[in-house]
Amino acid sequence: MASSIPNPSLTTIYTTLAALASILIVFVIFSFSTQPNCLRPNYVRVRTHDSLLPPDTTNISHLVFGLVGSTNAWHHRKSYIESWWRPNITRGYLYLDTAPTDDLLPWSEASPPFRISDNITTLFEESRHNGEPVMVRLIHAVIEIFRDEREDVRWYIMGDDDSIFFVDNLVDVLSKYDHTKYIYIGGHSESIAPNEILSYDMGFGGAGLIMSYPLAKMVQKNIEDCVRRYPQLKCADQTLMNCVNDFGVALTAHKGLHQMDLHGDVSGFLSSHPKVPLLSLHHFDQLDPIFPSMDRSESAKHLMKAANIDQPRLVQQTVCYDRQLNWTFSCSWGYSVHIYENIIPRSVLKAPLQTFKPWILESTPPLFIFDTRPLSNDPCATPHVFLFESIKIINETEVITNYVRVASRGLPACEIAGNHSADLINRIEVVSPMTKPKQDGKAECCDIVENKMDLVRLKLRDCMEDELIA
Ligand SMILES: *[C@@H]1O[C@H](CO)[C@@H](O)[C@H](O)[C@H]1NC(C)=O
Ligand SMILES: *[C@@H]1O[C@H](CO)[C@@H](O)[C@H](O)[C@H]1NC(C)=O
Ligand SMILES: *[C@@H]1O[C@H](CO)[C@@H](O)[C@H](O)[C@H]1NC(C)=O
Ligand SMILES: *[C@@H]1O[C@H](CO)[C@@H](O)[C@H](O)[C@H]1NC(C)=O
Ligand SMILES: *[C@@H]1O[C@H](CO)[C@@H](O)[C@H](O)[C@H]1NC(C)=O
Ligand SMILES: *[C@@H]1O[C@H](CO)[C@@H](O)[C@H](O)[C@H]1NC(C)=O
Repeated sequence: MASSIPNPSLTTIYTTLAALASILIVFVIFSFSTQPNCLRPNYVRVRTHDSLLPPDTTNISHLVFGLVGSTNAWHHRKSYIESWWRPNITRGYLYLDTAPTDDLLPWSEASPPFRISDNITTLFEESRHNGEPVMVRLIHAVIEIFRDEREDVRWYIMGDDDSIFFVDNLVDVLSKYDHTKYIYIGGHSESIAPNEILSYDMGFGGAGLIMSYPLAKMVQKNIEDCVRRYPQLKCADQTLMNCVNDFGVALTAHKGLHQMDLHGDVSGFLSSHPKVPLLSLHHFDQLDPIFPSMDRSESAKHLMKAANIDQPRLVQQTVCYDRQLNWTFSCSWGYSVHIYENIIPRSVLKAPLQTFKPWILESTPPLFIFDTRPLSNDPCATPHVFLFESIKIINETEVITNYVRVASRGLPACEIAGNHSADLINRIEVVSPMTKPKQDGKAECCDIVENKMDLVRLKLRDCMEDELIA
């Protein structure tokens, strides 16, 4: 379900979103293909011990995505969804406001199949709903997805037409919950203001609203009543929250679901991701492209090159040190590597550098629901930034990701740590295992296995017992 807080530069976000059909709710249904272990070459995944899992473990075919979009916006948003959608594997539908125009036909096989949303005019009018009709359409999609896809479904995931999901991680995370219970999983807004305005107990729609089957069944039966009971609520995700709360179910917040209520350059955020699997990214249209040399569509596809091989490691932060040079390396796997010319502990680096702005630009501090580090011109606190360029599977045990320098830092070396400049480093290679990281509660560690003139090679590994990252 989508909810959005007005961006100061937009008179109302609702109008804008409606106009763009870029409302946050897209319900995507994952409907799984019948072939078991269907690993296509483009979805080579890090090995898991699937054979050791109980046969009834949740898999991709138990997830159904309900995405709500508009025909108008689909022209440019389709590439976001196609970046993660797996035709004939992921189950679900895209709900459009009107029939696709000729230029969208024949319907792309790489897109989710579409449906036209039910006509909600009567419900909208008779409930005297205070928001835009699109909000009622978003809410109503819970009924439609449940009607369209029910068999062997454990989880319904509602999203927008610009919600990017990481399906392998969703399967892993959801398999740890009991899908036979009433469970409502969502993500907070990253900016304080939207939580304050809407609710701290709400799953923000574009990040993905996840309902277990029993919850979705209950919600779809009652959601029209909820719309009538809360006509003053403008946002679809707020109505859903109230509806769910009135049945005694509370939000389970997950830090890997990202509404991305931020503006500008989010590289700081993605380089210090919370230590949980990345599940979604939203608001791609509102953010600067996450890879500055590419446009937004290309950026989404580019990130998926890493995601299709190793989702559990994606944007997971690993920190290691070159003690001879007093350098710190902070790797966000599949996205970036930072070099600091100083020894900085993990406890500090885990807070994102504040490269981004809050959703409501005029907000006054405190701005975010997480710790941040200020940007500065201090050569001892400013990283050299390298971004993901390519990935290669070396053999059945190793993967190499390559990161290249974005720009010169334009600062002198950090004198207090020995004046060792990293200006000459242009490329970083990170070797990682083809197996899932150990899930023992600790992050991975790394070693510097090579540090030449212009190239550094890091290798990820399990941390040793009592190993300090400082
Ligand atoms: C998912 O699990 C079900 C059993 O619950 C099984 O029938 C189905 O083949 C599995 N699908 C995949 C893709 O593993
Ligand atoms: C999906 O399945 C249909 C019918 O089984 C088939 O015609 C189509 O080629 C498949 N699409 C892809 C992208 O594999
Ligand atoms: C939707 O329903 C309303 C009220 O019944 C009707 O006036 C309108 O024409 C319908 N819209 C479409 C696109 O069918
Ligand atoms: C994989 O490649 C690496 C680096 O070339 C090598 O050290 C390792 O032994 C190889 N592993 C296998 C199983 O071939
Ligand atoms: C590393 O930095 C410390 C100060 O933090 C300094 O005393 C030491 O000499 C530096 N080591 C090298 C090799 O530059
Ligand atoms: C630090 O290194 C730069 C050149 O890399 C040099 O110009 C400067 O004098 C050095 N500073 C100190 C205190 O050694």
